[in-house]
Amino acid sequence: MNHKALLLWIFLQCAAALFSSALGENAVLKGEDSGLDELSTDGRALDGAVKYNMRKSLDLEHEGCYLQAGKKDCLQECGFNATAKTIFIIHGWTMSGMFESWMHKLVAAVMRRESEANVVVVDWIAMAQQLYPDAVNHTQNVGLDIAAMINWLQDEQQLPLEKVHLIGYSLGAHVAGYAGMYVRGTIGRITGLDPAGPMFEGVEEQRRLSPDDADFVDVLHTYTREALGVSIGIQQPIGDIDIYPNGGDVQPGCALGDVLAVAGNFMEVMKCEHERAVHLFVDSLMNKDHMSFAFQCTGPDRFKKGICLSCRKNRCNNIGYNTRKMRKRRNSKMYLKTRADTPFGGYHYQMKMHVFNRKEADHADPTFHVKLYGAHNDTANIFVDVHDGAVGLNLTNTFLVFTEDEIGDLLKIQLSWEGDSESWNSVWKNIKKTFWSWNTKPPKPVLEVRRIRVKAGETQKKFTFCAQDPGKTEISPGESVTFVKCRDGWEVKPRKRLPM
Ligand SMILES: *[C@@H]1O[C@H](CO)[C@@H](O)[C@H](O)[C@H]1NC(C)=O
Ligand SMILES: *[C@@H]1O[C@H](CO)[C@@H](O)[C@H](O)[C@H]1NC(C)=O
Ligand SMILES: *[C@@H]1O[C@H](CO)[C@@H](O)[C@H](O)[C@H]1NC(C)=O
Ligand SMILES: *[C@@H]1O[C@H](CO)[C@@H](O)[C@H](O)[C@H]1NC(C)=O
Repeated sequence: MNHKALLLWIFLQCAAALFSSALGENAVLKGEDSGLDELSTDGRALDGAVKYNMRKSLDLEHEGCYLQAGKKDCLQECGFNATAKTIFIIHGWTMSGMFESWMHKLVAAVMRRESEANVVVVDWIAMAQQLYPDAVNHTQNVGLDIAAMINWLQDEQQLPLEKVHLIGYSLGAHVAGYAGMYVRGTIGRITGLDPAGPMFEGVEEQRRLSPDDADFVDVLHTYTREALGVSIGIQQPIGDIDIYPNGGDVQPGCALGDVLAVAGNFMEVMKCEHERAVHLFVDSLMNKDHMSFAFQCTGPDRFKKGICLSCRKNRCNNIGYNTRKMRKRRNSKMYLKTRADTPFGGYHYQMKMHVFNRKEADHADPTFHVKLYGAHNDTANIFVDVHDGAVGLNLTNTFLVFTEDEIGDLLKIQLSWEGDSESWNSVWKNIKKTFWSWNTKPPKPVLEVRRIRVKAGETQKKFTFCAQDPGKTEISPGESVTFVKCRDGWEVKPRKRLPM
């Protein structure tokens, strides 16, 4: 079996085991009309089954204390501070019946960042540790229970709702949605960390997390790859802003090889991508001075082409905890690339260059690399990913270049065209060419690039780079051209469109 087939097989095995019963349900839910089930509005249906563990110490052994609606003395015992922020953390579906290891990381990161906040872990393990459709069936009641708790805090302590933030992972994101829908008033913020997809994709807003559930709803989507018609993380945008790191599908560092080397378990591949949302959020809490930016774009393909690196009119935002609330703007899709590990943030550059076909290059299909030289550091050679297949000749091409390390102000760019001998692909191309023209020396294709216009996503600075040697702007396979900032070019708004 080749690599892709193997991956697919594993995925199907896991997904089928996890969600087999969900598949049928989803179809039914999607089709049926809304009519939410009648609910007992006292919200006490679960009667103590949901536990509210208020964390008092970073020490994991320390149990903290429990809030109980109706019991005033608990508030005092827990040191609940109604004027501070109140952050509820809500887990998702579980097979183990225990908190997963991310929970401690997230709690610790929230407490370090917001030392005065009331940090409450919502424990609905008993209802989450069931067949997936049954756990889904409990999300509404658990949400109702949380709403009742918050209502009680409002009555008892005049808890300001705008300072309430619910953070829900996977199924917990939809629990948060229900809580926001049922609470009296409007909660400040809900963050959905890769909200669950099966049985929620495509259903009406009242049955899943949606923008109306809080004043601000932000969502990270990290596992939206589909198999058997379901995706573990929901694919559709369901918040005010929806951020899709790495397009929301393949997360760096989660490839089969990477994960197997560490864990040796196929399930870990799925878990790695689904849980990545939590780790990105933890990263955003801890690395305040190195924020990751996401950029609004209509889709992943346009983003990968480098078209969407604008911050004008709120088109970019910080990710995770640092996400800024924006004017109500539903389902705004945003993208970024990340590193494979914490700190996840990297640096995005848009590069635009006009590629002239000078000689014999009609079928040259060049493979470019760029090496960036910065004030602090240089990058390795970075493959220029032409998203829709080929460099356009006699056209202006736009690329996205991502660097993992900060290099400081960009000083120099080296553009190289991979030589014939450097890849099997080009060797094969060459053999074919030579075969057809065996008695003539294959002609050397020549392209010309005079300038590269660069925009740095993180700083929004724009520069134009010109050939370092004005006489050396042509490039052939195996060669490179070096560009430095144009002398006139701290620029940059050319009055007229330059013939580049
Ligand atoms: C409660 O929180 C507010 C706001 O964070 C803070 O100013 C105040 O000192 C806190 N009170 C106590 C008793 O910790
Ligand atoms: C969901 O729970 C209700 C009771 O709360 C039950 O009547 C219903 O059959 C359950 N639905 C599913 C799909 O399990
Ligand atoms: C690009 O323009 C050159 C002339 O400037 C021409 O010879 C060549 O065929 C054009 N190539 C393409 C792909 O349009
Ligand atoms: C420069 O970048 C390399 C990777 O390209 C990295 O290993 C190195 O630590 C960086 N140096 C500094 C000073 O950031």
